Amino acid sequence: MKEVSKSPNKISNMFNEIANVYDRNNDIISLGLHRIVKKFAIEEFNPNYNEIVVDLCCGTGDICGYLLKYVKSNNIIGVDFSSEMLNIARHKYPSLKFIQADISDVPQETSRVDKITICFGLRNVENRDKVIAEMHRILKPDGEILHIDFGNKNCFSKIFDLIVLLLIKLFRKNAESYEYLIHSKSQFPVPKELIEEFKKANFELKKCKNFIFGVVSMQIYKKI
Ligand SMILES: C[S@@+](CC[C@H](N)C(=O)[O-])C[C@H]1O[C@@H](n2cnc3c(N)ncnc32)[C@H](O)[C@@H]1O
Repeated sequence: MKEVSKSPNKISNMFNEIANVYDRNNDIISLGLHRIVKKFAIEEFNPNYNEIVVDLCCGTGDICGYLLKYVKSNNIIGVDFSSEMLNIARHKYPSLKFIQADISDVPQETSRVDKITICFGLRNVENRDKVIAEMHRILKPDGEILHIDFGNKNCFSKIFDLIVLLLIKLFRKNAESYEYLIHSKSQFPVPKELIEEFKKANFELKKCKNFIFGVVSMQIYKKI
Protein backbone atom coordinates (compact mmCIF):
# COMPACT_ATOMS: atom_id res chain seq x y z
CA MET A 1 0.00 0.00 0.00
CA LYS A 2 1.24 3.51 -0.88
CA GLU A 3 2.71 5.40 2.11
CA VAL A 4 0.33 8.24 3.10
CA SER A 5 1.84 11.72 3.24
CA LYS A 6 2.10 13.09 6.79
CA SER A 7 3.52 16.49 5.99
CA PRO A 8 2.79 18.85 8.92
CA ASN A 9 0.88 21.18 6.60
CA LYS A 10 -1.37 18.44 5.27
CA ILE A 11 -2.08 16.95 8.70
CA SER A 12 -2.71 20.25 10.49
CA ASN A 13 -5.00 21.43 7.67
CA MET A 14 -6.92 18.17 7.81
CA PHE A 15 -7.49 18.48 11.57
CA ASN A 16 -8.35 22.18 11.23
CA GLU A 17 -11.08 21.20 8.77
CA ILE A 18 -12.64 18.49 10.90
CA ALA A 19 -12.14 20.12 14.33
CA ASN A 20 -15.79 21.14 14.78
CA VAL A 21 -17.03 17.58 14.18
CA TYR A 22 -14.06 15.71 15.70
CA ASP A 23 -15.58 14.93 19.11
CA ARG A 24 -18.94 13.91 17.67
CA ASN A 25 -17.36 11.68 15.00
CA ASN A 26 -15.09 10.05 17.59
CA ASP A 27 -18.17 9.10 19.59
CA ILE A 28 -19.85 7.70 16.47
CA ILE A 29 -16.97 5.61 15.10
CA SER A 30 -16.00 4.22 18.52
CA LEU A 31 -19.60 3.94 19.79
CA GLY A 32 -18.42 6.11 22.69
CA LEU A 33 -15.83 3.55 23.72
CA HIS A 34 -12.88 5.93 23.25
CA ARG A 35 -14.02 7.76 26.39
CA ILE A 36 -13.88 4.59 28.50
CA VAL A 37 -10.46 3.64 27.07
CA LYS A 38 -9.00 7.10 27.77
CA LYS A 39 -10.43 7.23 31.29
CA PHE A 40 -9.19 3.74 32.15
CA ALA A 41 -5.73 4.34 30.65
CA ILE A 42 -5.23 7.54 32.67
CA GLU A 43 -6.32 5.62 35.77
CA GLU A 44 -3.58 3.03 35.05
CA PHE A 45 -1.04 5.81 34.43
CA ASN A 46 -2.02 7.41 37.74
CA PRO A 47 -0.10 10.71 37.60
CA ASN A 48 0.54 12.56 40.86
CA TYR A 49 -1.00 15.90 41.80
CA ASN A 50 2.26 17.89 41.64
CA GLU A 51 3.75 16.29 38.55
CA ILE A 52 4.22 18.24 35.30
CA VAL A 53 2.28 16.42 32.59
CA VAL A 54 2.42 17.26 28.89
CA ASP A 55 -0.27 15.88 26.60
CA LEU A 56 1.16 15.72 23.07
CA CYS A 57 -1.26 15.86 20.11
CA CYS A 58 -3.86 17.01 22.62
CA GLY A 59 -6.45 17.77 19.92
CA THR A 60 -9.71 18.95 21.49
CA GLY A 61 -8.34 18.31 24.99
CA ASP A 62 -9.97 15.01 26.01
CA ILE A 63 -6.89 13.61 27.73
CA CYS A 64 -6.15 16.93 29.47
CA GLY A 65 -9.69 16.81 30.83
CA TYR A 66 -9.16 13.33 32.30
CA LEU A 67 -5.77 14.40 33.71
CA LEU A 68 -7.50 17.17 35.65
CA LYS A 69 -8.89 14.55 38.02
CA TYR A 70 -5.33 13.71 39.13
CA VAL A 71 -2.99 16.61 38.39
CA LYS A 72 -3.22 20.27 39.42
CA SER A 73 -4.41 22.40 36.54
CA ASN A 74 -1.28 24.62 36.45
CA ASN A 75 0.85 21.57 35.70
CA ILE A 76 -1.08 20.26 32.68
CA ILE A 77 0.11 21.42 29.25
CA GLY A 78 -1.55 20.41 25.98
CA VAL A 79 0.46 20.64 22.74
CA ASP A 80 -0.93 20.42 19.21
CA PHE A 81 -0.26 22.14 15.88
CA SER A 82 -3.89 22.49 14.79
CA SER A 83 -5.20 25.92 15.76
CA GLU A 84 -8.84 24.82 15.35
CA MET A 85 -8.47 21.72 17.52
CA LEU A 86 -6.77 23.92 20.14
CA ASN A 87 -9.59 26.50 20.00
CA ILE A 88 -12.03 23.78 21.02
CA ALA A 89 -9.68 22.50 23.74
CA ARG A 90 -9.32 26.03 25.17
CA HIS A 91 -13.08 26.48 25.13
CA LYS A 92 -13.64 23.16 26.95
CA TYR A 93 -10.85 23.66 29.51
CA PRO A 94 -10.23 27.40 29.98
CA SER A 95 -8.08 26.83 33.09
CA LEU A 96 -5.46 24.77 31.22
CA LYS A 97 -2.45 25.83 29.18
CA PHE A 98 -2.40 24.87 25.50
CA ILE A 99 0.56 25.48 23.20
CA GLN A 100 0.45 25.45 19.41
CA ALA A 101 3.56 23.58 18.24
CA ASP A 102 4.82 20.63 16.22
CA ILE A 103 5.63 17.81 18.63
CA SER A 104 8.87 17.02 16.79
CA ASP A 105 10.20 20.18 18.48
CA VAL A 106 8.34 20.64 21.79
CA PRO A 107 8.85 24.05 23.42
CA GLN A 108 9.90 22.57 26.78
CA GLU A 109 13.27 22.55 28.51
CA THR A 110 15.32 19.37 28.59
CA SER A 111 14.50 16.99 31.49
CA ARG A 112 11.64 19.17 32.79
CA VAL A 113 8.56 16.97 32.44
CA ASP A 114 7.45 14.16 34.79
CA LYS A 115 4.96 12.49 32.50
CA ILE A 116 3.83 12.59 28.86
CA THR A 117 0.57 11.37 27.39
CA ILE A 118 0.10 10.87 23.66
CA CYS A 119 -3.19 9.45 22.45
CA PHE A 120 -3.99 8.69 18.78
CA GLY A 121 -1.20 11.12 17.89
CA LEU A 122 2.06 9.26 17.15
CA ARG A 123 0.38 7.59 14.15
CA ASN A 124 0.11 10.99 12.46
CA VAL A 125 3.66 12.29 12.73
CA GLU A 126 6.05 12.47 9.80
CA ASN A 127 9.16 11.33 11.69
CA ARG A 128 8.27 8.97 14.55
CA ASP A 129 11.92 8.42 15.64
CA LYS A 130 12.39 12.17 16.03
CA VAL A 131 9.24 12.51 18.14
CA ILE A 132 10.22 9.57 20.38
CA ALA A 133 13.68 11.16 20.84
CA GLU A 134 12.03 14.50 21.64
CA MET A 135 9.86 12.84 24.32
CA HIS A 136 13.04 11.35 25.79
CA ARG A 137 14.67 14.80 25.81
CA ILE A 138 11.91 16.63 27.71
CA LEU A 139 11.26 13.87 30.27
CA LYS A 140 13.01 13.87 33.64
CA PRO A 141 15.08 10.74 34.46
CA ASP A 142 12.55 7.95 35.23
CA GLY A 143 9.83 10.03 33.55
CA GLU A 144 7.02 8.09 31.90
CA ILE A 145 4.95 8.08 28.73
CA LEU A 146 1.40 6.84 28.33
CA HIS A 147 0.89 5.96 24.68
CA ILE A 148 -2.54 5.01 23.27
CA ASP A 149 -3.36 4.17 19.65
CA PHE A 150 -4.73 1.43 17.42
CA GLY A 151 -3.29 -1.97 18.29
CA ASN A 152 -3.38 -5.35 16.64
CA LYS A 153 -4.65 -5.84 13.11
CA ASN A 154 -7.16 -8.58 13.90
CA CYS A 155 -10.74 -9.32 12.78
CA PHE A 156 -12.17 -6.76 15.22
CA SER A 157 -9.86 -4.13 13.78
CA LYS A 158 -11.25 -5.02 10.33
CA ILE A 159 -14.80 -4.55 11.65
CA PHE A 160 -13.76 -1.07 12.82
CA ASP A 161 -12.42 -0.33 9.30
CA LEU A 162 -15.79 -1.42 7.85
CA ILE A 163 -17.64 0.98 10.17
CA VAL A 164 -15.35 3.79 8.99
CA LEU A 165 -15.89 2.83 5.32
CA LEU A 166 -19.63 2.95 5.93
CA LEU A 167 -19.24 6.44 7.38
CA ILE A 168 -17.27 7.51 4.30
CA LYS A 169 -20.30 6.54 2.24
CA LEU A 170 -22.75 8.31 4.57
CA PHE A 171 -20.79 11.51 5.19
CA ARG A 172 -18.97 12.31 1.96
CA LYS A 173 -17.97 15.65 3.49
CA ASN A 174 -15.16 14.26 5.66
CA ALA A 175 -14.31 11.35 3.37
CA GLU A 176 -10.65 12.32 3.00
CA SER A 177 -9.99 12.29 6.74
CA TYR A 178 -11.72 8.91 7.18
CA GLU A 179 -9.65 7.46 4.31
CA TYR A 180 -6.53 8.86 5.96
CA LEU A 181 -7.57 7.23 9.26
CA ILE A 182 -7.79 3.78 7.65
CA HIS A 183 -4.47 4.18 5.78
CA SER A 184 -2.52 5.57 8.73
CA LYS A 185 -3.94 2.83 10.96
CA SER A 186 -2.88 0.08 8.52
CA GLN A 187 0.67 1.49 8.29
CA PHE A 188 1.15 2.04 12.02
CA PRO A 189 3.31 -0.60 13.78
CA VAL A 190 1.51 -3.15 15.94
CA PRO A 191 2.27 -2.86 19.70
CA LYS A 192 5.03 -5.52 19.57
CA GLU A 193 6.90 -3.55 16.88
CA LEU A 194 6.29 -0.19 18.53
CA ILE A 195 7.65 -1.47 21.84
CA GLU A 196 10.91 -2.34 20.04
CA GLU A 197 11.10 1.21 18.63
CA PHE A 198 10.74 2.67 22.13
CA LYS A 199 13.33 0.25 23.53
CA LYS A 200 15.83 1.33 20.87
CA ALA A 201 15.19 4.93 21.96
CA ASN A 202 16.09 4.13 25.61
CA PHE A 203 12.69 3.46 27.10
CA GLU A 204 11.62 0.38 29.02
CA LEU A 205 8.11 -1.02 28.81
CA LYS A 206 6.29 -0.88 32.16
CA LYS A 207 2.82 -1.95 31.11
CA CYS A 208 0.93 -2.91 27.95
CA LYS A 209 -2.86 -3.40 27.81
CA ASN A 210 -5.34 -4.12 25.08
CA PHE A 211 -8.79 -2.58 24.84
CA ILE A 212 -11.82 -3.42 22.68
CA PHE A 213 -10.50 -6.90 21.78
CA GLY A 214 -7.06 -5.50 20.91
CA VAL A 215 -8.32 -2.85 18.47
CA VAL A 216 -6.76 -0.24 20.78
CA SER A 217 -3.58 -0.67 22.80
CA MET A 218 -1.99 1.34 25.58
CA GLN A 219 1.59 1.12 26.66
CA ILE A 220 3.38 2.82 29.53
CA TYR A 221 7.10 3.44 28.99
CA LYS A 222 9.76 4.65 31.43
CA LYS A 223 12.79 6.70 30.41
CA ILE A 224 16.08 4.91 31.12
C1 LIG B 1 -6.49 11.89 16.14
S1 LIG B 1 -6.22 13.43 16.95
C2 LIG B 1 -6.05 12.94 18.63
C3 LIG B 1 -6.52 13.98 19.60
C4 LIG B 1 -6.59 13.55 21.06
N1 LIG B 1 -5.31 13.17 21.58
C5 LIG B 1 -7.59 12.45 21.24
O1 LIG B 1 -7.18 11.35 21.62
O2 LIG B 1 -8.77 12.66 21.01
C6 LIG B 1 -4.55 13.76 16.48
C7 LIG B 1 -4.08 15.15 16.85
O3 LIG B 1 -2.67 15.20 16.66
C8 LIG B 1 -2.30 16.46 16.14
N2 LIG B 1 -1.00 16.29 15.48
C9 LIG B 1 -0.66 15.39 14.54
N3 LIG B 1 0.64 15.50 14.21
C10 LIG B 1 1.13 16.49 15.00
C11 LIG B 1 2.42 17.07 15.14
N4 LIG B 1 3.45 16.65 14.39
N5 LIG B 1 2.59 18.07 16.03
C12 LIG B 1 1.53 18.51 16.78
N6 LIG B 1 0.28 18.00 16.69
C13 LIG B 1 0.10 16.99 15.81
C14 LIG B 1 -3.45 16.81 15.21
O4 LIG B 1 -3.52 18.19 14.96
C15 LIG B 1 -4.65 16.27 15.99
O5 LIG B 1 -5.20 17.26 16.82
